[in-house]
Amino acid sequence: MSKPTFSLSDSSSGRSIELPVRDGVLGPSTIDVGTLYRDFGVFTYDPGFTSTASCDSSITFIDGDKGVLLYRGYPIEQLAAKSSFIEVAYLLIYGNLPNQTELDEFSAIITNHTMINETLNSFYRGFHHDAHPMAMLVGVVGSLSAFYHDHTDINDPKDREISAHRLIAKMPTIAAACYKHSKGEPYVYPQNNLSYPANFLRMMFAVPCEDYEVDPIAERAMDVLFILHADHEQNASTSTVRLAGSSGANPFACISAGIASLWGPAHGGANEAVLKMLEEVGDVGQIEKYVAKAKDKDDPFRLMGFGHRVYKNYDPRATIIREVCHNVLEKLGNGNDPTLELAMRLEEVALRDEYFVERKLYPNVDFYTGIIYKALGIPTNMFTAMFAIARTAGWIAHWMEMIADPAQRIGRPRQLYLGPEKRDYPGITTR
Ligand code: SDX
Repeated sequence: MSKPTFSLSDSSSGRSIELPVRDGVLGPSTIDVGTLYRDFGVFTYDPGFTSTASCDSSITFIDGDKGVLLYRGYPIEQLAAKSSFIEVAYLLIYGNLPNQTELDEFSAIITNHTMINETLNSFYRGFHHDAHPMAMLVGVVGSLSAFYHDHTDINDPKDREISAHRLIAKMPTIAAACYKHSKGEPYVYPQNNLSYPANFLRMMFAVPCEDYEVDPIAERAMDVLFILHADHEQNASTSTVRLAGSSGANPFACISAGIASLWGPAHGGANEAVLKMLEEVGDVGQIEKYVAKAKDKDDPFRLMGFGHRVYKNYDPRATIIREVCHNVLEKLGNGNDPTLELAMRLEEVALRDEYFVERKLYPNVDFYTGIIYKALGIPTNMFTAMFAIARTAGWIAHWMEMIADPAQRIGRPRQLYLGPEKRDYPGITTR
């Protein structure tokens, strides 16, 4: 049977071209336009990449219409209920779930990489006390390549693996140190006898003058939140990591670029923006007013935590997080947190409104997360750093997948030029 093709014809010149069609295991087919410019002298045009597949990948699959999210084929609902973040990080990187020996070995490797070079701790003193944690995270993670250049030969699979382990292991230590710096409290060193989420919570909240016991409810909630944020296909920050990595930049610099992209309020910065929005809305009596503002094209106000480029249905992560929200708040004793009440009413009103229904705007992963983080004592300006800790597993899995691909080339998009035609340089007296 002949290979499927897609015909393209140019009405002005009458020429036509057959482009190969490539089918994936799941999801839409793709039209390979790689030869279009060479054979036809035109570019495709898709700012925002709404209809563009940038690469092959086997890591995560999303069906936006059905609200499906699979990590290496496993439904997010099952992983959130049964797995751990460390096991999910292994799955994303290596492609399959580990057996007990593999899990124990991987967990031990990660645990033994959690400390950061002591010199790095002095790095924080260079930041103003009220520096945003994401500003510190971008800087400190980028600087890791100044400390760990012993294994940054990206063409050596062993070096790629060591860098991946180091990044996953050190992100919680670095993020917690950002928080401690902003509080003016001493940094807390990781403890090798604690789980990944428990270690993070202790590094965030322990102080030298008393013992700190990790609350198992908070530990499990943290683990589930890390699982839910671990990867999400070719989102803006993952695409940033891939594009940075395509030039051969070292993995620490690439992850730092991903952190920078995640910080934006349209992306990972939305969780912080949701809490600020809920504080601005204030109480249920204001909901109608703010929903009207969100619909008003002349008003910059958006319902943060709502809408998604891919999901035109419920973000499956939001459904799980809303459940976790209830359980955590109940068990931690703030079951009737007015913020959760307000968020749920806001969701209810929006989902009854034609504007949101017509545009298929549903709560996304960021809508409820901030309420849980707040209940766990995490300050608003740390919310996106939490996202970055978890997404490091996905970012580095994509970076490894891309670098290991023998067909990998530098990413170099083109443009539609709308600037001035060629013109000569005028002397200043003639301008
Ligand atoms: C994440 O890509 C990923 O996978 C990201 C992520 C991941 O895990 O990596 O899932 C994490 O980033 C989740 C998204 C977090 N961002 C927010 O919650 C910010 C609020 N949402 C939006 O800004 C927006 O919905 C985006 C950025 C998420 C998606 O933007 P799109 O796909 O470019 O959609 P759009 O801006 O073109 O909106 C389509 C329409 C527009 O109205 P019309 O011009 O058609 O009349 O919907 C409207 C928009 O004005 N709209 C909203 C809205 N989101 C879209 N109107 C009010 N409030 C909103 N939140």
